[in-house]
Amino acid sequence: MTEITHDEWFPRLAARAQGGPSDLSAILALASAGGDLVDFSGGFPDPSLYDTALLGETASKAIASKPGVALQYAPNYGIASLREVLRGEVARTQGVTPAADGLIVTSGGVDAITLVSKSMLDHGDAVLVEAPSYLGAFSVFRSHDGACFSMRNDEDGLIPASIEEAYEQARAAGHPPKVVYVIPDFQNPSGLRLSLERRGEIIEIARRLGLLVLEDVAYRDLAFDGSSIESLYALGPDVTVQMGTFSKTFTPGTRMGWACGPATVIDAMAQAKTNTDQCAGALGQTILESYIAEGHYAASLPILRSAYAARCAGLMDALAEGLGDRASWTHPGGGFFTWLEIPGVDSTQLAAAAAEEGVAFVPGGPFFADSRPNANIRLSFSRTTVDRMGEGVARLRRSIERVEG
Ligand SMILES: Cc1ncc(COP(=O)(O)O)c(C=O)c1O
Repeated sequence: MTEITHDEWFPRLAARAQGGPSDLSAILALASAGGDLVDFSGGFPDPSLYDTALLGETASKAIASKPGVALQYAPNYGIASLREVLRGEVARTQGVTPAADGLIVTSGGVDAITLVSKSMLDHGDAVLVEAPSYLGAFSVFRSHDGACFSMRNDEDGLIPASIEEAYEQARAAGHPPKVVYVIPDFQNPSGLRLSLERRGEIIEIARRLGLLVLEDVAYRDLAFDGSSIESLYALGPDVTVQMGTFSKTFTPGTRMGWACGPATVIDAMAQAKTNTDQCAGALGQTILESYIAEGHYAASLPILRSAYAARCAGLMDALAEGLGDRASWTHPGGGFFTWLEIPGVDSTQLAAAAAEEGVAFVPGGPFFADSRPNANIRLSFSRTTVDRMGEGVARLRRSIERVEG
């Protein structure tokens, strides 16, 4: 009997599965490579910053005190008591309270983007995206047959007038625009924050054009100085679904996130969830609920902020010293990332050379929905200790010299 081979299986896969590994899986693989690598690649938190004893206690208490909840399926909207806690957190930190049926618990951020896509996108509908923006979201929109159209960004974030430009382009190409996807705070990959003035304009434009704003607040809680700017959701709760993740500020290991917005959309997301994982994991939900309700989440934020601020400062210093004459970069006030421009360099070629020099980062191309050739790279400072920043930048410089020949 001859066994069926890969070459025979591959054409039988669904068309959407024949694209090969995604940009995201390449990053996840790199990030787990280990060794002497200086790893500026994935947007990973640093688990050494967690209070593991406290997390252990919280987890065992959740199992011991509520086994019927923590070890059981949860409602598709999420456990009611956690939803109350999260509604309270949104009210406390953003000054607007989601309606009782206006918040859902998700399995992290990607799940929230998936549920919005399932709820909003018919075949060929357009999603307007920042340039650059989070590549994982592009992948989700596309896997739901959405078409991504690029808007324009500058140092103050998304340029509101470019929403209308992308809207017209999408319509002219036969793609009805439905959603505008924005990461206002310490954006992935730029690290920049959207100005308050622009936030107001974006909401006004979305109302006028009939677009849903998908506001991704993955890094909102990680302003180094603890400051915040009014959210798009607070400015326009009628036209915004805000989604967030606890992967950056709690643990990606629990895969916890949420989304709040108009009840009609949130209800559609809850229905869509019955076709994916049915519900976010109850054990993670139970742990997260007591972690927040007992004040541990709020208490942990200043610790995380100052650790990431120190790493960011360390990287900024190393870049100024090692690449000041060769590149420019953003100066983030929070989050995990800085975005470099290295004139005259092809970032994909540079990533290959960098792998040989022992430094990893994500080349800029996949952060543009139109995959333009570019000289940008994203460096994440979240997992690299300050004492390794100089070595990482020295390796980056050697990689640049290699591709320059
Ligand atoms: C802007 C942004 N949104 C969403 C996510 C995904 O969140 P999660 O890992 O919780 O699915 C990430 C993770 O890198 C992100 O950077």
